[in-house]
Amino acid sequence: MAQPGLFISFEGIDGAGKSTHIAGLAEAFRAQGRPVALTREPGGTPLAEKLRALVLNDAMDPLCEALLMFAARRDHLLQVIEPALARGEVVLCDRFTDATFAYQGYGRGFDLGVLRQLETWVQSLPENPVQLRQPDLTVWFDLPPEVAAQRLAGARVPDRFESQPVAFFTRVAAGYAQRLAEQPSRFARIAADQPVDAVWLKVQQAFVQRGWLTPQGQL
Ligand code: TYD
Repeated sequence: MAQPGLFISFEGIDGAGKSTHIAGLAEAFRAQGRPVALTREPGGTPLAEKLRALVLNDAMDPLCEALLMFAARRDHLLQVIEPALARGEVVLCDRFTDATFAYQGYGRGFDLGVLRQLETWVQSLPENPVQLRQPDLTVWFDLPPEVAAQRLAGARVPDRFESQPVAFFTRVAAGYAQRLAEQPSRFARIAADQPVDAVWLKVQQAFVQRGWLTPQGQL
């Protein structure tokens, strides 16, 4: 019988270095014969990618921003994430709802109660309306905002989030810490202020500990 699907999200402030490790994990899972769905938020479907372009580039008020993030998420969840999980795939999702709490809630200062309501609506599924869909594991790459700013400096044309000052990312990081405090068993916090190999080792350990990977995955 096929193994049950796994839903993994990856979080961190801009510059925290998620992408390399997401690619490494995809390879490690595939090497062990698990089908992988690589995806991202906002985005992951044609509609959600259109919303991504708007929300990353066009000026808008915080409610509009939060609604678009969750609209993109609903489409992504129904069109991509749920079907992949039903097929027994490992869904590796670059950001999910913790990003909305961290960026819109803590970064922008938007009402957390409204975000909780939106989370409840968007992550309820018709077949199981009582239990919200949440990641099985959220890997949080925790990097000091000053270090992230140095890494990002001059890297490319910044979007509406990347162009924020360090103080914004300090609040975003506090938002991630708060989400972890609320749901500790869902999170693996990885100290990301280390060489990439050391971080990769920690990432692998988080999956090996849970019995989801055997220890030989290489980056
Ligand atoms: P990111 O994931 O860093 O992608 P890339 O590596 O292509 O830049 O960019 C997505 C941006 O969107 C990032 O700055 C965080 C922001 N974001 C939110 O503000 N709220 C959300 O709910 C999500 C999913 C992302």
